[in-house]
Amino acid sequence: MKVLIVDDEPLQRSILRQFLEEKGFQAVEAEDGRKAIYLFKKEFIPVVLLDHRMPDMNGDDVLEELMKINPMVKVIMITAYGAVDTAVRVMKLGACDFLEKPVDLELLLEKVDAAVSRIETEEDLKEVSKEIEDSQIPLTFIGSSHAMKEAVSTARRVAATPWPVLIYGETGTGKELMARLVHELSPRKDYQFVEVNCAAIPENLFESELFGHKKGAFTGAARDKKGLFEFAQRGTIFLDEIGELPEHLQAKLLRVLQEKKMTPLGVVQPITVDVRVVAATNRDLKALIEQGLFRQDLYFRLNVFEIHLPPLRERKEDIPELVELFLGKYSTKPVRISSEAMDRLLKYNWPGNVRELEHIIQRLVTLCRGNVIRASDIPGDFQSSDELGQDLESRLRQVEREEILKALRAKGWVQTRAAELLGISERVLRYKMKKYGINRERSV
Ligand SMILES: Nc1ncnc2c1ncn2[C@@H]1O[C@H](COP(=O)(O)OP(=O)(O)OP(=O)(O)O)[C@@H](O)[C@H]1O
Ligand SMILES: [Mg+2]
Repeated sequence: MKVLIVDDEPLQRSILRQFLEEKGFQAVEAEDGRKAIYLFKKEFIPVVLLDHRMPDMNGDDVLEELMKINPMVKVIMITAYGAVDTAVRVMKLGACDFLEKPVDLELLLEKVDAAVSRIETEEDLKEVSKEIEDSQIPLTFIGSSHAMKEAVSTARRVAATPWPVLIYGETGTGKELMARLVHELSPRKDYQFVEVNCAAIPENLFESELFGHKKGAFTGAARDKKGLFEFAQRGTIFLDEIGELPEHLQAKLLRVLQEKKMTPLGVVQPITVDVRVVAATNRDLKALIEQGLFRQDLYFRLNVFEIHLPPLRERKEDIPELVELFLGKYSTKPVRISSEAMDRLLKYNWPGNVRELEHIIQRLVTLCRGNVIRASDIPGDFQSSDELGQDLESRLRQVEREEILKALRAKGWVQTRAAELLGISERVLRYKMKKYGINRERSV
């Protein structure tokens, strides 16, 4: 693969050139912006190392020119040490990455490799994208709404890549199903899809569950145990509820993702890990980062691609099709739903999203005596919830819950202080915490 080195200092150019050639790249040099553009017009050079400060043309302008000629180009901008503004600006202009001076060669290699693999995948993607868009989905994944079509289309495209995916969505929006879809659409589909619920594994067992252990590694380790990462080799690991992972375990996970190696407890030789990571959360990880509850470096590792699953109330056009699916799944005889009943379902707010819809259909099918589900069969709480007032009420509840959480976090979970801040008594605060299921977050 060819790399173009653009720098006005001959010594710098020759150091970079020598290094890259040693690593098997073909290097081409240009001493200024004009020369770089000239060479680039003659032939497409996929990766460009561009010194930002050069006498003839500003790095921003060279970058823009190159992007105009071929937007596929991956430009790694070399900026002055600590020039954060420049770095941010060139990234916005379309640079693929940046490096500070003095250039750390190992880091340079990492970034060039990353650029190359992005080009390769983009090329692959171009070829297969048509095929991908048309191919059958291997799971029943319903979504005629625009938002869901977009989510599925993203899933198809990212599935072909080896990169991590982070799925966001409220409870019951289909995060797990989406993770499975990414796996099934990926070249890893013939290997395991291993699910890990980060909130459910006891902290002290986390490492041995994920990375495994050797017999006798600790008291109670009666035999060798394979870790979940090992089960997922060449397949996909699904890290559900990643936002709940305590901080010291985040560090351990990060290390595995960075080094692509893990060491089971009691083992000396690390094992190479070849696993695609899909993580999911219903929490705002950026907010958790701000509160110091989630590591930013881990976030960047996991969040190469984001898929957002919108709540059901924002894509009600999907409801009829989902209802059909669940009727088929749970009824043993043909059952139909009356239009009034469907109307009620369409008006409801669905705080529990698709899972809640699935449960109600299951219940209706089980209780249905004839072969039509009528509006009057729908339980009372759903009946009343189609009024606008209910919608508002549930929204108010959400707001109240958020405010309480905010106050508790702000006051370091000291309830007296949080209550003071909210202007309510401590007793009322405790009652509301119980009502909304708010518990002191771990790792605080
Ligand atoms: N688009 C969809 N098409 C068909 N079924 C769906 C869809 N979305 C969700 N479901 C079904 O709804 C149920 C809940 O989905 P899932 O478990 O994936 O949600 P989740 O976002 O992981 O929820 P939680 O946050 O509570 O873990 C599952 O039975 C799933 O099969
Ligand atoms: Mg789930």
